[in-house]
Amino acid sequence: MYFRKSDINMGDIDPAFIQSTEHRPKSTVVEETSEIPVIDLSESREKVVWKIGKACEEWGFFQVVSHGVPSEVSRKVEIEAKKFFEQSLEEKKKVKRDEFNAMGYHDREHTKNVRDWKEIFDYLVENTAQVPSSHEPHDTELRTLTNQWPQNSPQFRETLEEYAREVEKLAYKLLELISLSLGLAVDKFHGCFKNQLSMVRLNYYPPCPFPNLALGVGRHKDSSALTVLAQDDVGGLQVKRKSDGEWIAVKPTPNAFIINVGDIVQVWSNDKYKSVEHRVVVNTRRERFSIPFFFFPAHHVMVKPVEELVNEQNPARYREYNYGKFFANRNRSDFKKRDVENIQI
Ligand code: SIN
Ligand code: FE2
Repeated sequence: MYFRKSDINMGDIDPAFIQSTEHRPKSTVVEETSEIPVIDLSESREKVVWKIGKACEEWGFFQVVSHGVPSEVSRKVEIEAKKFFEQSLEEKKKVKRDEFNAMGYHDREHTKNVRDWKEIFDYLVENTAQVPSSHEPHDTELRTLTNQWPQNSPQFRETLEEYAREVEKLAYKLLELISLSLGLAVDKFHGCFKNQLSMVRLNYYPPCPFPNLALGVGRHKDSSALTVLAQDDVGGLQVKRKSDGEWIAVKPTPNAFIINVGDIVQVWSNDKYKSVEHRVVVNTRRERFSIPFFFFPAHHVMVKPVEELVNEQNPARYREYNYGKFFANRNRSDFKKRDVENIQI
């Protein structure tokens, strides 16, 4: 599946995966660094709020421990993810994403028009939701996003649902801490997440014979409010350091979640906290699994810099936008449309 049929014997990579020279990873060795802050959520609220605010400003990324998500819930979902991706392509394609089902299995994800070296399974946390169609030019057109579940494994669904419930609690907690760190009311953003469109994604990155040419996920920013990511012990996630633009590997920390600021928090905070570019490098030896929870608001939510953070010295940097329309544009091939910079004033 990762090779062009005619090229299999030659061991050539499908050109669809090849990154342009400037975006190729420098080395196959995954350097680990502990620079990305690790925050213990069991510390005093005051300390945690301060540390989160600092990490959001300096990195746009941090890790959390003592987060309240039971480790057996995480272990179970890792096992189910492994079992799912181990199946034959034919079996996985029974729950394939297509023009009617935007959720489910997909092996042809592209980032900035270059194919990612990975397979995914997407699950919408609300069972169904109406969103503007990504296939229709009319933004008012609605289509239903429906989850697809493998028929051969009832525990797959139960496990993912349980995981989503637990991680959602953490996402709310983090949202509250971020609000406090911005000097806002603890529940400032709660209303935006009623009928939310949050999504759990299972990522599977097979070993790659060409780790210098391809990426597991190309450079991108998340369009969520926040992302809560579980990664295994293989490593591969890299974050663009704000101070010098260097790619920094995020060291896998046992039982930690990696949290990153998404575009929505960037807009709400009027650029105080920025959504930072990240990517995933692959390696020749080990497969890797990761599970992002994208905390997305409801589609009717209008996103704009919050009034308390805007004044004459610091005017609003973004126009108000409708989150549902923005979400729909994410799937369009013209990736520029989904860049939050497009709504900058
Ligand atoms: C992503 O940013 O989409 C995936 C991150 C990861 O797999 O570590
Ligand atoms: Fe991401």
